[in-house]
Amino acid sequence: MRILSGIQPSGTLHLGNYFGMMRPAIELQAKGEAFYFIADYHSMTSLFDPAERRQNVANVALDFLACGLDPQRTVFFRQSDVPEVTELSWILSTLTPMSLLEKCHSFKDKSAKGFPINHGLFAYPVLMAADILLYDSNVVPVGRDQKQHVEVTRDIAIKFNEAYGETFVIPEPEIRTEVAVVPGTDGQKMSKSYGNAIAIFGEEKVLRKAVMAIKMDSRQPAEPKPDADQNLAIQLLKLLNPGVAREYEEKLRAGGLGYGDLKKKLFEVYWEYFAVARAKRAELAANRDYVNDVLRQGAERAHVVARAVLQRARKASGLE
Ligand code: ADP
Ligand code: TRP
Repeated sequence: MRILSGIQPSGTLHLGNYFGMMRPAIELQAKGEAFYFIADYHSMTSLFDPAERRQNVANVALDFLACGLDPQRTVFFRQSDVPEVTELSWILSTLTPMSLLEKCHSFKDKSAKGFPINHGLFAYPVLMAADILLYDSNVVPVGRDQKQHVEVTRDIAIKFNEAYGETFVIPEPEIRTEVAVVPGTDGQKMSKSYGNAIAIFGEEKVLRKAVMAIKMDSRQPAEPKPDADQNLAIQLLKLLNPGVAREYEEKLRAGGLGYGDLKKKLFEVYWEYFAVARAKRAELAANRDYVNDVLRQGAERAHVVARAVLQRARKASGLE
């Protein structure tokens, strides 16, 4: 079974990325042959600062390795190190109805928020389809917001296979229902673009402040809270430590627990949860050559598969 996923280097990775995509992806490493990559071509649709892109790529690599990506097992690479994906993206784009892309939330949401839409952003799902199909992927672990893109990928692959004969493997999305959407500090979906994120790694003071900024209501500590399961801090605690979450949910329900104390506990649990990864990240950050070697070797391994699949598509469509 080939498992594939990607993440954009467009900012600092947060708990939504971790529980929605990274942790499932890391766990799936044991279940098959995983290909994970840093989607730097995709980041070009919304990030226009070259130094920031380089920095973000380096940070995502450190984050993923620190969180348990095992480069012995898993092929870990940078998307643009295998430029064949852009050729496949072109080929696929010729079979992609405009109406399919016009339906995509990613572009519609950005458009509704008034972001300027470039062609890359509109065609983003086609490049994502190329990422997935280029490696004969069976399973794609992503958060719920990416499910539509995997469905678009399936549609495009089916169209290609119908037009030119069986060429591509049809992939399945894998979404963890228990963590489908991790809420941010304001209760909306946690996202780097909404200013509501709690990063995985960073300075203790900054992270503590982010946790303490989680929105609560104005009820007094003594008041019982029958809706304790809706509390944002409880929802995050459930992901980090279900036992503590149960205990604190009960305390809230009974009344007597102040929100400040709840958030202090959440910070403590969160800080502890990533303690080992934090130490590993510091070690890796001091060894950039090792990280660069991992990505280079990953690209070499990815290339072998990419060349073979691209050739299959070129032959099927009459380019060869
Ligand atoms: P962001 O919204 O911060 O820009 P991305 O769109 O880059 O995040 O998402 C990267 C990966 O993390 C995707 O697989 C996405 O589904 C997952 N993800 C992002 N935010 C969340 C969230 N709040 N809950 C669950 N998964 C998420
Ligand atoms: N679009 C994904 C995101 O923003 C990143 C991505 C690019 C991806 N190519 C992919 C995810 C292929 C899974 C498979 O999170």
